[in-house]
This record gives sequence, structure tokens and C-alpha cells, in this order.
Amino acid sequence: MSSSFQAPKGVSEYVPPRADLLQAVRQRFAEQARLAGYGYLELAVFEDTNLFRRGVGESTDVVSKEMYTFTDRGGRSLTLRPEFTAGVLRAVLEHGLHKRGGLPVKVWTTGPAFRAERPQQGRYRQFYQLDLEAIGSEDPQVDAETIAIAWNWYRSLGLTRVRLLLNSLGCRECRPAYRARLQEFLRGLDLDEATRTRVEINPLRVLDDKRPEVRALLAEAPLVADHLCAACKTHHDRVRGLLSDLGIPWEDTPTLVRGLDYYTRTTYEFDHPLLGAQSGIGGGGRYDGLSEDIGGPPLPGIGFGLGLDRTLLALEAEQEEGEGAAFTAPPRCQVFGVALGEEAERRLFGLVAELRAAGVAADMAYGGKKLKGAMKDADRSGARYAVILGERDIAAGSVQLKDLAGGDQTAVPLTEIVTTLRERLAR
Ligand code: HAM
Repeated sequence: MSSSFQAPKGVSEYVPPRADLLQAVRQRFAEQARLAGYGYLELAVFEDTNLFRRGVGESTDVVSKEMYTFTDRGGRSLTLRPEFTAGVLRAVLEHGLHKRGGLPVKVWTTGPAFRAERPQQGRYRQFYQLDLEAIGSEDPQVDAETIAIAWNWYRSLGLTRVRLLLNSLGCRECRPAYRARLQEFLRGLDLDEATRTRVEINPLRVLDDKRPEVRALLAEAPLVADHLCAACKTHHDRVRGLLSDLGIPWEDTPTLVRGLDYYTRTTYEFDHPLLGAQSGIGGGGRYDGLSEDIGGPPLPGIGFGLGLDRTLLALEAEQEEGEGAAFTAPPRCQVFGVALGEEAERRLFGLVAELRAAGVAADMAYGGKKLKGAMKDADRSGARYAVILGERDIAAGSVQLKDLAGGDQTAVPLTEIVTTLRERLAR
């Protein structure tokens, strides 16, 4: 029987073995980020509500409809982070990382984010992101570097179906004119009330409307790609050239707009075709004015947020289709100890500790279980080997080593068992 309580609706929770896979996926990312020179941040999970209002933007769905905002006991308005970028930039400025020289500041972080969305498969109220940011450089090589880190990580997990959808949203110089043009076009269309309001508040988001009847009306809409200033166009061409050099395929997606207001120039999404409605497994882009928006100095930046929950779903979907996404978590148990009798139990407890110290994942049956029950535990543990120790083995100074898949059993001297197991497991 479970308790009288359940996790709140829409919270994505993970338990073993899936949580082990999630953790391995995260660790693989940590490795990629380290290799590219990104340092790790551990950040506030809640922030001053105004940080998101000013950073992410009042007109976004995230800020206007989806934030978990509360007043604390001191009367301050706080919000559980709905995304990481504003908080990362806040922390970089607060800790003066940008003053230590050597821009860009390259950092990454991970953890839960919170949005009060309608929960469904792949869309949760508490979800997990990997977030990476490079702050303080306008160089298009930084754009390409960050995209490559995400791309290589997907690849290293064995994912083969990820698509990179790429666009440029222009800058604060060229976008206002484009925005006005788009608005003029949209005002001429026969749109419903809510969409007409959106035209006035956030016209670019209208381009993202998924309804076929609206999509049809938008076929002739002016595209930002045709209205970029010379500097934005050069930047965008350079990013695309660098991605080509790195062998990363992208799809120009001139209608791609993102749900957060801070984006400028390079914007992109990673899409996975097997995930249905929630196919956006990651997204990112430049935010060259965000630092000023939150009261900091001019510091251009770029980064991404990758959805861990959806990445895991993508991995499982590809594995189900037999598409060779072979990534698995490292084993939690390679060797399982079975002791028969008290003295054997005491010895085996020591042996298991020795195995762990030697880097072998080891576990044993507790509670004085009989052979049959303990062997069941051994099978259930997923271990490749069982080491079985009885009174007679102790007398002979050996232990029984059983291959749990093949069934072979041999006696190995106790003094050699750790080395023997390490050799066998390395094969
Ligand atoms: P975002 O596109 O809002 O961007 O979120 C990034 C990713 O988080 C999405 O592609 C998706 O995989 C995942 N995600 C978002 N909402 C949910 C949800 N409710 N349930 C499950 N997964 C979700 C950002 O958050 C930006 N801060 C990314 C960024 C970093 N841009 C520049 N730097």
C-alpha cells in the first residue's frame, strides 16, 4: 500500500533504474562541458520575481501565465525559476565572474525548473534542464561552439534523429522595423480575439501558431531573415559556415521564434520527430541585451537549455524503434555476494568493501538469507557474477565464483578473487 500522499500533479519524478539513466545522461553532458572549458554553477532555485519579469519578459506565456510565484515570510515576491538564463546572468554579475578577465565567462548548470503548464507526456510542471551559457562575447565562433556541445552530447548518447532548426531574430537595431512590418501584415488578417491581442503584444510569437488554419494565413508573412541588418546577416552567415565546418547539419527555419523575450540574432531548437507534440528537446540562442535589461553592463551572451526529460524520452523512443541509441547507465551491481553462515557473512562483508574500493560495483544479500533467496537477489541485482561463501570455502581459503548468465561455477582463492573479478569484468 502506498501512503496517503502523492507528488503534486505534473511533477516529473525519477526512480531507479530510469533515474540512473538520467544521471548517466547528465554526467555525459558534464564531461562534454568540461572538455569545452565550461565551469559548473550551483544556483538559487528561486529568485526575485522581478528578475524574470524584466529578464524573460512580461509578454511571454512563461512570465504571464506559468510562474510559481509566492510571497515569503518577509513579504518578498519570489518565483521558482521557470528557466535558468536570467539566474545564470544574475549570478555571473553578482559574483563578478565577468570582471575576472578572459571573456566569455563559460558556465553550465543543471537542476529542476518550474512552469505551471498543462501536464502531458513530455510537458511537466517540474522538469529538468541542462543549461550552458557563454557570456561576454559576440564572436560567432562562440555561437557555433555552444551548438556543437549540445549536438555532440546528443550524438554521444547515440541519438540519430535530432534535427537542428536554426534562425536569426536580428538585433535591437533591425528588429523593431521588422516587428512593425509583421504587425502591419498581421493586422490585415482575419484572426481570433486572443491572437489579435498577441499581434499587439508579441507579434513574433504569432508566427509560432501551430493551428493549420492560422498557418495558412501566415504563408505570406514577412520573415525576419529577409529583414536582417548587414551586421546580423554577416553574423548569421558566419555561424552557418562554422557549423558546416564542424559537420553539423542544420535546417534554416525562418519562422522559428522562441517563447522568451530576450533572444537576439542566433536562435535555434533541437527537435525530435518521435516525440509528437512536445518535440522540442532543447533550445537556445543569443541574448545580447539581457544583461542591460536586468541592470548590468553590456555583456552579449549565448547559450541553451536542454530538456532532460524529453531527451530521455527521445532516447527510449529511438531504442524502441531499434535505431541503435545504445546508451545505458553504468551497472549498479556487477558482483553479488551470497554468504552461508555468520562467519561467511562477516568475511563477505569485508570482501564486498574491498571490491568497491577496487572500483567494482558490488552488493550482497543481507539479513541471513538462505541460499535460494539470496541467489534470487543475485539474479535480480543484474550482476554478472555471484561470489558464494560457505563454511567449507572458508576452510579451503577460497570462494565460489558463479557466472550468473552462463551458470559456470569455479572455486577461486580468496586472496585472488578481487584481481580475478577485475580482469573478468574488464573483458
Ligand atoms: P526553453 O525553450 O523554454 O528555453 O526550454 C528549453 C528546453 O526545456 C525545451 O526545449 C524543452 O526540452 C524543455 N522544457 C521546457 N518546458 C518544459 C516542460 N514544461 N516540461 C518538460 N520540458 C520542458 C529556455 O529555457 C532558455 N533558458 C534556454 C536558453 C539558455 N537560451 C539561452 N540560454
